[in-house]
Amino acid sequence: MTNYHFYRPIDGHGLAHNPFNAIIAPRPIGWISTVDRDGVANLAPYSFFNAFNYVPPIIGFASIGAKDSLRNAREMGEFVWNLASYDLRSPMNESAAPVDAEIDEFARAELAKTASRCVTPPRVAASPVSFECKTSQIVQLQNADGDEVDSWLVMGEVVGVHIDKAMLENGVYQTARAKPIMRGGGPADYFVVEEASKFAMDRPE
Ligand SMILES: Cc1cc2nc3c(=O)[nH]c(=O)nc-3n(C[C@H](O)[C@H](O)[C@H](O)COP(=O)(O)O)c2cc1C
Repeated sequence: MTNYHFYRPIDGHGLAHNPFNAIIAPRPIGWISTVDRDGVANLAPYSFFNAFNYVPPIIGFASIGAKDSLRNAREMGEFVWNLASYDLRSPMNESAAPVDAEIDEFARAELAKTASRCVTPPRVAASPVSFECKTSQIVQLQNADGDEVDSWLVMGEVVGVHIDKAMLENGVYQTARAKPIMRGGGPADYFVVEEASKFAMDRPE
């Protein structure tokens, strides 16, 4: 007998809910704005999202299936990441609705957009931070046998950064001040980053 539940994902998890997303959690949200060839703005959240490099700064999100953000980031070579704050949780969620590509998802989510400086896709005006990105790589995922999976990792170099100055204290960015929301597991769980959950630990010399 063991106190660990073990499963091989290929055989199913054997639990009431797939625990994968609840274990790799909370995840930051890539709230991604793009434009299509006709100039229609698109906005959608991606929690398979993270930063991958410091210099140059590179971030990426994974499109599970070929979605509009992937197509636009590929065809136009640009995307913008917007920080999803607690205050913006409802429009963030609204922007996940499956809608036709010709619908402007800013308008649908009743979100004001504002122009970017280095790229064409607009940013979410009320978001405390936005990164303007140029698509650097799009990698189709593969399984361990080398078979292609219907998922794509879209990476971009950050070429412009907007930070609401209210998030800065003596030039130091205050992570919790924006109250970033993070994705938990299940259909609806989120976490919010708050100062009370912060702790510090120096790296070993
Ligand atoms: C919080 C949250 C996180 C999501 N994360 C992802 C993700 O990592 N990858 C993905 O393909 N879809 C994800 N989705 C679903 C997409 O947002 C949804 O399919 C959306 O309609 C895609 O929009 P697009 O086709 O305009 O890019 C997520 C939805 C929510 C609400």
